[in-house]
Amino acid sequence: MKIYRADNYGDLSKKAGEILGAVIALYPDSVLGLATGSTPVGAYEILVQKYREGLLDFSEIKTMNLDEYQGLGREDEQSYAYFMEKHLFSKVNIRRENTYIPDGTNLDEKAACEAYEAVLKRLGAPRIQLLGLGHDGHIAFNEPGKSFPEGVHCAELNARTIQANKRFFEKEEDVPRRSYTMGIGNIMRAKSILMLVSGAEKADIFREMLYGPVTPRVPASVLRFHPDVTIIADAAACGKL
Ligand code: F6R
Repeated sequence: MKIYRADNYGDLSKKAGEILGAVIALYPDSVLGLATGSTPVGAYEILVQKYREGLLDFSEIKTMNLDEYQGLGREDEQSYAYFMEKHLFSKVNIRRENTYIPDGTNLDEKAACEAYEAVLKRLGAPRIQLLGLGHDGHIAFNEPGKSFPEGVHCAELNARTIQANKRFFEKEEDVPRRSYTMGIGNIMRAKSILMLVSGAEKADIFREMLYGPVTPRVPASVLRFHPDVTIIADAAACGKL
């Protein structure tokens, strides 16, 4: 595991954008595993900037996202599909048919999960999987629990995550309670992992994932078993190390 300490969020985003940009430049037909949330927004901005400067070509890139809220479709502003469109897909030359995200509008949970699992199998392991770190140690929507979920599943958001995510919604009641998410097994199959951690409010859980026991009670701790993980954390997130 490599950990880079960034001075601040801007520096973190620049470093992350450089790494993702290098993957795209070196392997322009890569499968990329993507994340949403606040943390990767700056990295996506760097990628868009590089694309505009003519340094990157997304025409053969394929993407698979970690997760999507159940019940939300591409046109819902809070959906992760909408987020990806807004922050990256609409700004680069990626082909929409090459972008994959669980279908939040499919309320048949078994069918929705099986369909996305089939997509992941067909695309194969991503060359790089981008991750954020949840306040409770979650990665994707794998919340603290008793075991590490293997495959794509429908997850119940816990109270902490609903609290953290309500900032994107008008009211707390509007935050969907369930989501479709890659499992820990899906994430661990990525060839490499790039995790971004920003802000003082992540400092305790970041310390726990690095130095506490590897346990499903801190889902991100499992990354210590992955052979190729890079973490970029800003000074505030490193505050308790
Ligand atoms: C997003 C995702 C989540 C976030 C995590 C951190 O696709 O899977 O696990 O990475 O909740 O979110 P932020 O970056 O908003 O703190």
